[in-house]
Amino acid sequence: MALRNIRTEGDPILGKISKPVWEVTPKIKELIGDMLETMYNANGVGLAAVQVGILKRIVVIDVSEEGNDPIILINPEIIDKSGSQTGMEGCLSVPGKNGIVTRAEHVKVKAFDQNMKVFEIEGDELLARAFQHELDHLDGILYTSKVEGELEASED
Ligand code: NI
Repeated sequence: MALRNIRTEGDPILGKISKPVWEVTPKIKELIGDMLETMYNANGVGLAAVQVGILKRIVVIDVSEEGNDPIILINPEIIDKSGSQTGMEGCLSVPGKNGIVTRAEHVKVKAFDQNMKVFEIEGDELLARAFQHELDHLDGILYTSKVEGELEASED
């Protein structure tokens, strides 16, 4: 595995729509491993393939405290959402900034795993926020377009 370069705001690729994955090739497996390593190395809780310059509908997320519970989503779709939460959000592609975003409180996601088997996963609170934030990346949307008020400087 290897670290990949994280694209940052202003890079036009972040505004592009990612393409579905039809087959999990060795190259895609390598990409997923690299995405996890890159996310953990940057202390992030989620990363979309577009953020490392690959326009494929792949997301990795880990909101666990220990950072040992990765969720890998291929071609994910939100199939249900409910409630509302308003809170601080950040993005590895927008370093040093935070902003307030309102998201659904609970979401259900349908996706494929690395064996291209379909599965469903539900999340609340931070996990629900991560699902929504990361899936937005696949459609070229950054959280900065949804921030209420001003972007703030983050503490880290
Ligand atoms: Ni992000």
